[in-house]
Amino acid sequence: MGPLLCCLGIAALLCRGLACPGPCSCSTKKNGRLLAECAYKELPEVPQGLSPNVTILTLSANRIGWLRRGAFAEVPEVQSLWLGYNQISGAEPGAFATLVELKNLDLSHNKMVTFPWQDLRNLSGLQILKLNNNRLAGLPRDAFQALSELRSLWLNDNQLTTLADGTFHPLPSLSQLQLFNNPFNCSCKLFWLKRWAESTSVSLTKGGSTLCAAPGRLRGRAVTDIPAQQCVAPSVQLTYLSKLDNTVLPDGLTLSLHCSVAGSPLPQIRWRIQTPGRGVEIDGPNVARDGSLSPSGRVKQSQERFLVFKNGTMAIPKFSKEDEGIYTCIAVNDVGTREVSVNVALAGSENPAEDLLQDDPHASPLGGRSCYKGDEMDPVGAGEKLVIVYHVPREVKGTAGGAVPRVGLATLLLALGIALGW
Ligand SMILES: *[C@@H]1O[C@H](CO)[C@@H](O)[C@H](O)[C@H]1NC(C)=O
Ligand SMILES: *[C@@H]1O[C@H](CO)[C@@H](O)[C@H](O)[C@H]1NC(C)=O
Ligand SMILES: *[C@@H]1O[C@H](CO)[C@@H](O)[C@H](O)[C@H]1NC(C)=O
Ligand SMILES: *[C@@H]1O[C@H](CO)[C@@H](O)[C@H](O)[C@H]1NC(C)=O
Repeated sequence: MGPLLCCLGIAALLCRGLACPGPCSCSTKKNGRLLAECAYKELPEVPQGLSPNVTILTLSANRIGWLRRGAFAEVPEVQSLWLGYNQISGAEPGAFATLVELKNLDLSHNKMVTFPWQDLRNLSGLQILKLNNNRLAGLPRDAFQALSELRSLWLNDNQLTTLADGTFHPLPSLSQLQLFNNPFNCSCKLFWLKRWAESTSVSLTKGGSTLCAAPGRLRGRAVTDIPAQQCVAPSVQLTYLSKLDNTVLPDGLTLSLHCSVAGSPLPQIRWRIQTPGRGVEIDGPNVARDGSLSPSGRVKQSQERFLVFKNGTMAIPKFSKEDEGIYTCIAVNDVGTREVSVNVALAGSENPAEDLLQDDPHASPLGGRSCYKGDEMDPVGAGEKLVIVYHVPREVKGTAGGAVPRVGLATLLLALGIALGW
């Protein structure tokens, strides 16, 4: 009895740090690394009881179907993890996050539809990532944000149809990228990849066989060969519409800004308005053809002040001091985004001499550019300054007290602000 207990005790001591689950074989390599070899064992899950000192874990060619959160919590020192040729359909967030020492991760030849991309933030030492031959249909733009050491990225043979512009930008060490055999949709959303491939030193393995599956006319053509003339980044120009509708004068001034855009595909127009009191974003036209706010009930109250037409014009009836601020037109298409701003201000005047300028605002010394140059006044890049000078009749001024300008009898002097977004 005594000798037996003793033996067990010694075995336990020896085995601490060398524990090896039944199906695996464990060995210490010359460099002191501990290898746990568990390939080809029909394992349905990651085996329990691994030594915390394991640095190489081979689980290839098993029957693992799913990786739970903390699946590798027992082996925080692992540097190489081989999980290829399993039946892994996905992994819970947190499955890999404990593997902060990881350098090589092979998940190729599985059935992954999802991957816990956020776990990669913890794997900042990762050098090789193989996710090829899975069923991944997409990945977030910031998936590879933390992988400053990553050299090799294999994403070939998946279901990727597109990739967000900049997906590979955070990878300073990347030298090899595999993307072939994905059903890429070569819309202009993917055009950045062509330009990136042309300028990068990263080797795009089988780049010429990284093909478009859609649209029909580009099917079978290389992603690096998308015709350039079809994808043109937006350009945008913002002008003040110097049209005064006399009928609205008793109620005040209707300010109209016109945003004209070009690009291919034709850019969508959005507006952003920043007044001292609030910020408003308008994603598209909110006025129907018949002039009613549309579709009724869907226009937010905060947007009602701003009438956005389909043709690129925005009108602000009864423009007042409260509406002063930065008006930005944003042009968006699949290739990119451009925006241009104008800083609109109202300025009251009691000097009738200024009224004379009314006839020719372009020649006016009060013109937006010369009088209030946007970039001098406002280094934040608020754009050109458009100053609307209105005449305040003496009798009105006394009661208005600097609030909403009454321009019923006023003369309007319009300084022209033109901002170019090229
Ligand atoms: C495991 O690592 C610990 C800490 O580095 C060390 O003390 C122990 O000897 C190692 N065990 C083996 C079997 O290498
Ligand atoms: C991710 O790494 C940080 C430190 O690098 C660690 O504190 C955190 O616990 C890790 N996340 C997980 C889920 O292990
Ligand atoms: C390809 O992308 C474009 C633009 O994003 C989209 O309109 C089109 O439906 C997509 N085609 C396919 C086959 O997914
Ligand atoms: C755009 O449409 C509105 C409403 O129909 C109109 O008032 C405005 O003048 C148009 N703008 C241009 C530049 O044609």
